[in-house]
Amino acid sequence: METFFDSNDDGIGDFQGLIQKLPYLKQLGIDCLWLLPFYPSPNRDDGYDIADFTAVDPRLGTLDDFRQFLMAAKQLGIYVLIDLVVNHTSDQHPWFKSACSDRNSPYREYYIWSDYIPQGQHKTIFPGEEDNTWTWSEQTGQYYHHRFYREQPDLNIYNPKVKEEVRKIIKFWLDEGVSGFRVDAVHILIQFARPDHVNGQDHEAILDDMRRWLDECNSSAVMLAEANDDIDKLPRYFGNSDRMHLMFDFITNQHLFLALARNTAQPLREAIDILLKVPIPAGCGYVNFIRKHDELNLGKLKEDERNEVFEAFAPEEYMRIYGRGIRRRLAPMLNNDRARMEMVYSIMFCLPGTSMIRYGDELGMGEDLQLKGRESIRTVMQWSSGNNAGFSKASAEALPYPAIDKGTFSYKNINVAEQLREESFLQWMTSAIQCRQQLGATTIDKFKMLESGNESVIVFRYDEGSKRFILVHNLNDMPASYALTEDIGAVMCFFGPGILGNNRELQLGRYGYAWLKNI
Ligand code: GLC
Ligand code: CA
Repeated sequence: METFFDSNDDGIGDFQGLIQKLPYLKQLGIDCLWLLPFYPSPNRDDGYDIADFTAVDPRLGTLDDFRQFLMAAKQLGIYVLIDLVVNHTSDQHPWFKSACSDRNSPYREYYIWSDYIPQGQHKTIFPGEEDNTWTWSEQTGQYYHHRFYREQPDLNIYNPKVKEEVRKIIKFWLDEGVSGFRVDAVHILIQFARPDHVNGQDHEAILDDMRRWLDECNSSAVMLAEANDDIDKLPRYFGNSDRMHLMFDFITNQHLFLALARNTAQPLREAIDILLKVPIPAGCGYVNFIRKHDELNLGKLKEDERNEVFEAFAPEEYMRIYGRGIRRRLAPMLNNDRARMEMVYSIMFCLPGTSMIRYGDELGMGEDLQLKGRESIRTVMQWSSGNNAGFSKASAEALPYPAIDKGTFSYKNINVAEQLREESFLQWMTSAIQCRQQLGATTIDKFKMLESGNESVIVFRYDEGSKRFILVHNLNDMPASYALTEDIGAVMCFFGPGILGNNRELQLGRYGYAWLKNI
């Protein structure tokens, strides 16, 4: 939000700015928006440290602006998901301030305290930036627990009073009219703070509760989990269609990057094969993405695999973060190679599940590695070649992060105004999304992966009623071909540079792809 568009020239993106840009998003083909936290926050962790769960950060607007935004989005047929961050609060949240002021505070048990640093503690999420998960509170003489920064004390989610607060937050925003939540850090939310902190409670019951309550408030609302967990643990987030509706697919994402590093389809094919074995209950599914607002997390790859991806896409140490990730956007990782960028997004659009892109991806925006940590990829949206990339008329110092103004990825080269005119990545993305809509709901029950006979080429098939789609991608920088042997009648290529010959042989250039359908 704060980096999208500034409507009142104070340097900060805001709800009114977002309202002005909704037609742009609609034109691009977006039908659902996920808003990052917009709540009052000291901004230690880009708004993920929340000081008031049911208000709008005054820097971004008012609750009234939020309502106007929601109405405008609805009119355009755009759903809105917002972030539900209940693993922790900000240390500036009144609950935590009260809990710190007195051991008898009614809010004391909202958080997790200990007289000593317990054995067997979890690892911190931000190694190098935050090295402890227990921090001493001078005022009350105990340690409190936090998986993220010390300014983000963990809530004791097992406390019935905290559960009640979570319900209030859910109800508040559903009553305002949002379509659901992206639920933050769910894999961490349902861990216990420490081995001896068990309370005889069932971890997943937290998710059952949340879902029951969500359904009670609005049975068409959805929850999208951020649960970067091992494959064998994924089923617990879906439950029997009675927990999270959707989950980001971190596994495919990381293996796609491994495949890119190796210029072969193999790691991607293996990941999809494994994932297909995880049962997905009816009404549930994955959300696919290439990059998000965080680092490219490679934590689920083996160490040598991770190193391969590092070598290929973050050769310098300063491009990496937390020992597990890359703090770069896609376009610079791929040296702005248009054919390869198209191929990567094309794969994402063809994966089973929902497709998600992040602002600026549609332009092929870059990063600013001089900014610290994850800020590198959080620079302002590049609207034009005007001042501050057309994001704001304020002075550059007033911006949350400066606009990228040097090199290939400078806003002078890469911006919406320019790309609306020419044969641009933005035009490509718009067509890709239109064609994606033809594929319909790419649910897993309609999906099959076919043998390609070539280790660089990956082939998906979807069957729905009498419709057949065959989606072919070449992950190598050498041309490849694929002989269509599937018995699906006459076909045509409706998207991609691949060329289908009379002999049903598909010719793919370097990083070529083709979306075929029966006619
Ligand atoms: C999620 C967010 C990340 C944030 C963390 C703590 O992982 O994506 O940006 O730092 O949760 O809330
Ligand atoms: Ca503003």
